[in-house]
Amino acid sequence: MKLSSLSIVFILGVAVGLLLASDYNRITPQAHAQEKPSPTLESLAAEIEAIKGRLPDQAHAMADVGYQFSNLWFAGQKENWPLAEFYWKETKSHLNWAVRIIPKCKDSAGREIDLVAILQALENSPLKDVGDAISAKNKPEFETSYRLTLEGCYACHKASDKPFIRPQVPGEVDTNIITFGPKADWPR
Ligand code: HEC
Repeated sequence: MKLSSLSIVFILGVAVGLLLASDYNRITPQAHAQEKPSPTLESLAAEIEAIKGRLPDQAHAMADVGYQFSNLWFAGQKENWPLAEFYWKETKSHLNWAVRIIPKCKDSAGREIDLVAILQALENSPLKDVGDAISAKNKPEFETSYRLTLEGCYACHKASDKPFIRPQVPGEVDTNIITFGPKADWPR
């Protein structure tokens, strides 16, 4: 079989192409490896520390609790029970988030304070009563249990050496982007 010169050029071209491709394959994994070394236990630990530094702190979660628990009061005042239930659940979930961030702390005497246990006590009693009052659409019960819960909030602040953070029944809405009244009140 006689190969035309054109075919020879073509075959040579393919061969060179294949050679280059195999060279490329040999070089690139190394090049990539240089850009991003495979993780080691040390590098992963450092990365986790860096991520931790970017997570919200307990004060941040608690500021959310303050906002939600305040809005809960105004929803209850307007007897907007679905909104009250929403803020009741948000309060609980953010309280739990706060103690996941710091589950235990030490008081000034060096004693260990179990924040998870304190929160459980709050959830099992006054905060649960707030939820029951919301389900029963009972405003007087709501107000009583809300005030009792505030005592529980403060008990934990005192236990964790922060007696200067004293929650109270809010006098004013923090932000009035939310309409607190039930649908019948819209627009205000
Ligand atoms: C289990 C313990 C615990 C309970 C229960 C608790 N708190 Fe706190 N709260 C803390 C701690 C600890 C801090 C201080 C956080 C910090 O400085 O990192 C705090 C801080 C706060 C702050 C200040 C946040 C800021 O930085 O401005 C507010 C507001 C607050 N809590 C509201 C409440 C309310 C309202 C309740 C009840 C519904 C409540 N907390 C229940 C432990 C608790």
